[in-house]
Amino acid sequence: ALLGDRSQALAGKRIVVTSGPTHEPIDPVRYIANRSSGRQGHAIAAALAAIGAEVTLVSGPVSIADPAGVSVRHVETAREMLAAVRDALPADAAIFVAAVADWRAEETAARKLKKSADTPPALALTENPDILATIGHGPDRPRLVVGFAAETDDLLANARRKLDRKGADAIVANDVSGEDGVMGGVENTVHIVTGEGIEAWPKLDKSEVARRLAAWVAERLSGKETA
Ligand code: CTP
Ligand code: CA
Repeated sequence: ALLGDRSQALAGKRIVVTSGPTHEPIDPVRYIANRSSGRQGHAIAAALAAIGAEVTLVSGPVSIADPAGVSVRHVETAREMLAAVRDALPADAAIFVAAVADWRAEETAARKLKKSADTPPALALTENPDILATIGHGPDRPRLVVGFAAETDDLLANARRKLDRKGADAIVANDVSGEDGVMGGVENTVHIVTGEGIEAWPKLDKSEVARRLAAWVAERLSGKETA
């Protein structure tokens, strides 16, 4: 890219993005999942690629198309998502947008569970790996690590806690308490929470949030070489 060519500000940068939900099987026909359309994560992957980044998108099951210009790894479970993210490292940045299921069934039944006259089956759950925290505190940590937080209460306090706990440089905090229909909708009102402070962005289309975040990432990566 030409010096100062802002249109390709991420040329030569490798970036990993997670998107969508994960599905944790209970038996061959049932699963545990979070609500997620994948729209925001996919838009971010596309926006990063549009300004020159070499993007690997690790996506859980979604009904939207793969974004153009991006290399996509399709996964089902949190453990598969973590493995695919690790495969995509080293990278200059990683952005964790996926709505990962916090728990999975301790045991997956090989055959469909059948209703019976007895009580419903008790589901024993076990915690999934935290993909962001694993990478954020791991040996292959990208220089820039960004997480998302969808909260219904104490948005900014929760986001700050996640920043520290997960070893992230920034948390994009998203208030999902309202009736705006953020989940699955086209618009988002976010705050960018970093160690330096909080930036409030106006209500924007998810595609515009993605463009601004890509520009923000480019700015951060163009800075000093040590995090
Ligand atoms: N995340 C992750 N792996 C998980 C859980 C979360 O990578 N197993 C990432 C999400 O992609 C997001 C960030 O961590 O970038 C915050 O996710 P969130 O669900 O808000 O945080 P949790 O730590 O799971 O806390 P809780 O759901 O209890 O609010
Ligand atoms: Ca969670």
